[in-house]
Amino acid sequence: MGVILDEIFEAFDKNKIFKNKGVLESNYQPEQILHRDEHIKQIASILAPVLRGEKCSNLFLYGKTGTGKTISIQYVKDEMLKRVKKEADFALKIEYLNCKLKKVSDTDYRILAELIKKLGGQVPDTGLPTERVYNKFINLIDSEKQIIVLILDEIDQVVKKISSDFLYNLTRLNNELSQSKLCLVGISNDLTFLDEIDPRVRSSLSEEEIVFLPYNAIQLQEILRKRAAEAFKEGILQEGVIEKCAAFSAKGYGDARRALDLLRVAGELAERDKSDKITFKHIDEANKKLESDKVLEIIQSEPKPFHYVLNSIIQLTEQRSKEGKSSHEPIFTGDIYNHYAEFCSRNKIEVLTQRRVSDIIQEFDMFGIINVRVVSKGRGGRMREINLVLAQESIVKVKEIIKNSVDFR
Ligand SMILES: Nc1ncnc2c1ncn2[C@@H]1O[C@H](COP(=O)(O)OP(=O)(O)OP(=O)(O)O)[C@@H](O)[C@H]1O
Ligand SMILES: [Mg+2]
Repeated sequence: MGVILDEIFEAFDKNKIFKNKGVLESNYQPEQILHRDEHIKQIASILAPVLRGEKCSNLFLYGKTGTGKTISIQYVKDEMLKRVKKEADFALKIEYLNCKLKKVSDTDYRILAELIKKLGGQVPDTGLPTERVYNKFINLIDSEKQIIVLILDEIDQVVKKISSDFLYNLTRLNNELSQSKLCLVGISNDLTFLDEIDPRVRSSLSEEEIVFLPYNAIQLQEILRKRAAEAFKEGILQEGVIEKCAAFSAKGYGDARRALDLLRVAGELAERDKSDKITFKHIDEANKKLESDKVLEIIQSEPKPFHYVLNSIIQLTEQRSKEGKSSHEPIFTGDIYNHYAEFCSRNKIEVLTQRRVSDIIQEFDMFGIINVRVVSKGRGGRMREINLVLAQESIVKVKEIIKNSVDFR
């Protein structure tokens, strides 16, 4: 065994593909942000007054995932901090907070505690009345003459997990400050949260707005080419690979993160293949892998009733193949419902209506977990025939997810 492992590790050591894989990881901050000059200039000119100690307008950045919102604001933040004048008679603090982080966004207590910590104050993790934490926050901000720019990334999470009151309070905070000023930068890739908030808060949050449109294929190519030059050894990309990666991602959502992931995973697959080139085949395989990772993520995030229904679909499918029936032996919605209902009563779980289960099945179809085909059964009767379309290795992982969510009996 030792010898075999030696071979594996040695082969890996002689890696022909990567020069610096870190360049393709998601937390890498690229030196140059391509195709976002206008956005960066706009952000900078909106925030510029704070360098003179004046309040700036609240700013709202939105656009689909992977369109460069976070890297652009981080870049402007760093550049501004470099330009703070030492002799100024006010302090300038620019704090970035990603509201998606679990420890941050569960309650307004936690989010305030996190902000207080960032501003150099202290607060116990639990125990104080929320009102007291608010006061502490206000006192801390107002303890000296200062301007605070608060960047709340993925701000939709605050509304989804806490309530819109928190944002209401934040936008009203300036009224309670005597010598300091607070400016807010909100960022989101999901605008549905705006429907739930008070129109006054909405307009206050977005005194200024900047939209980040998806990248097109040509822009993605340039972003990828620049990163590829740093990440890979020379000459290992088959001609056309960058274009293919960009085309895949532009067809999706113009998402640069997805495009970079695709290139990284393709590189990993080429490495595992002991290939000395990344070819189209690797891109195709990487694309499939990322798709199935996404499906697994979706399944993981679904509530238990989804897992019960999916469990029935998998069990029925496996039963069919065990009985030696070919894949032509179809499963119908009714079979799934019966299996599901029986499973629920055996496990003393509330049984959902047939209608609701139908909706769940429809969602599985939409996510590409199953394939639904409507077949007519004469006399106008129609049935829905269900086929599981997950790859075998995904099914193994899905079963693992279901096992962790369901107490089987
Ligand atoms: N213009 C660009 N030039 C170089 N790299 C970019 C560019 N835009 C995005 N990227 C890269 O793509 C990835 C995603 O970018 P970023 O995190 O800024 O997206 P986002 O708009 O904040 O997405 P989300 O809404 O999902 O948070 C990062 O790894 C970033 O380095
Ligand atoms: Mg982001």
